[in-house]
Amino acid sequence: MPHRDMRDFLAVLEQKGKLHRIRKTVDRLWEPASLAKWMYQALPADRRLGLFFENVAGSAFPLVTGALGASPETYCIALGCEPDELNKIWLAALTKPVAPKLIERGVSQEVVLTGKDADLNRLPIPVWTPGKDVAPYITTMVFTRHADTGVQNIGVYRTQVKDAHTVICNLGNGRQGTMYARSHTERGKPAPIAWVIGAEPVVHLASVANLPPNADEITVAGGLKGAPIEMVKCKTIDMLVPATAEIVIEGEVIPGAMEQEGPFGEFAGFMGPVNPRPVIRITAITHRKGAIFYGYTSQMPPSESTVLQSLSNGPVILKQLRHDLGELTVSDCHIDLTFGGMLAHVVVAMKPMTPGHAKHVGRMTAEISPLKRVTVVDDDIDIRDPVHLDWAMNARYDPARDTIIIPDVFVPQSMDPSVRVRGGVSDLGSKIVIDATQSIDSGDLSLPKWDVMNRALETWKSEGLPEFTIPKRVRYRLDRA
Ligand SMILES: Cc1cc2nc3c(=O)[nH]c(=O)nc-3n(C[C@H](O)[C@H](O)[C@H](O)COP(=O)(O)O)c2cc1C
Repeated sequence: MPHRDMRDFLAVLEQKGKLHRIRKTVDRLWEPASLAKWMYQALPADRRLGLFFENVAGSAFPLVTGALGASPETYCIALGCEPDELNKIWLAALTKPVAPKLIERGVSQEVVLTGKDADLNRLPIPVWTPGKDVAPYITTMVFTRHADTGVQNIGVYRTQVKDAHTVICNLGNGRQGTMYARSHTERGKPAPIAWVIGAEPVVHLASVANLPPNADEITVAGGLKGAPIEMVKCKTIDMLVPATAEIVIEGEVIPGAMEQEGPFGEFAGFMGPVNPRPVIRITAITHRKGAIFYGYTSQMPPSESTVLQSLSNGPVILKQLRHDLGELTVSDCHIDLTFGGMLAHVVVAMKPMTPGHAKHVGRMTAEISPLKRVTVVDDDIDIRDPVHLDWAMNARYDPARDTIIIPDVFVPQSMDPSVRVRGGVSDLGSKIVIDATQSIDSGDLSLPKWDVMNRALETWKSEGLPEFTIPKRVRYRLDRA
């Protein structure tokens, strides 16, 4: 079942031993981010957990990071599903979005701070790459609204705190949030913008999905929840925000005002560039009583950013291939969790129907997304199991026959450090499509059949050998043996 709000989710996470409370008073300028770095850099995914900093020096609010995206396990707890159900739930949400519902009053506005009380210094906003980031950064969902259509958009855009009442937001070219903000500022009007912190988990999971223009991520969040997300009107701007959010920061993008933003440690593992970005005046901070501040951990992968972006966008690609492009034999998609997001490696599982079908699907996947590497395998491969995937790469992939290189692709060097820069301009990059589907009959698999293996399993158990769960890889193999 989806969680009612962030608190509900954190309670479930704690009950499952996946949330650790830190009681010591921490310094937001270096401690929370550095501990989060140890968590992501040193622990394997199955041991990672959310970090709950109960006491942050100088702030009345506790700080949480890594809870939603510590690992696929915490992501699925946030979604309220088993790992095997993730893509199915996402596909249903993407094909049957649910519109949000406006309500009169929400707990996200139990406390309303405006004017000089809307002071960002009250919040425990961390420095995420201590010693290297230029300032504390808000890393959460950013809501914008288009001036003409009234459609809202959610994305995560890193936001630098300039002073108590001003921020600079990384609204870069091409982003929907940027286009929505410009629909106001290009007419000389301030653009409404809001940072939503600690909403219902499904809203966070939906916010990083790369959706087509005019699709509001809140409707996909409603689809994930199976019910409308309840929204309230902001206090100082024309915008709707989730009613159960922990904290909402309201603001206005000032027409024409740009300042240098960055450097900030980016998800690819390098310090991101400094560019002129829009300046925003904060108009209000509203929050629940006893509110919890949430910030995503990004920077060196793996990170919360890579987990969230990969797991939310794998099903988006799957939906595009199956529903929009009619490739009904595509059964699964999974984006690499070690780099993450839309610039990484995606593995597509399918049943090719004709020679060249897998290459065609691979090419399309590369064309419709910024993903750099696409691997296509048969649907008898567990695409989340690196051992099985590697077996397919050796058993079914012939590099000379099955590799397609797509040249001359624009990739921002700041996001993909493998692309060279000449004279201050990014070189064009390239993509690779690997067809690791079986194209020749290699004969029978060298495993006994199920009946023999099942009899052996009885002996295994009666002899007290170590217990195990049969891996999906082994099931798939025995099904074909
Ligand atoms: C922690 C985190 C930080 C991010 N920071 C940025 C950012 O600063 N700028 C950006 O363009 N995308 C950033 N992203 C990725 C976008 O939020 C994501 O691609 C989103 O779908 C963009 O929405 P849009 O296509 O509606 O603009 C970030 C994602 C995460 C999880």
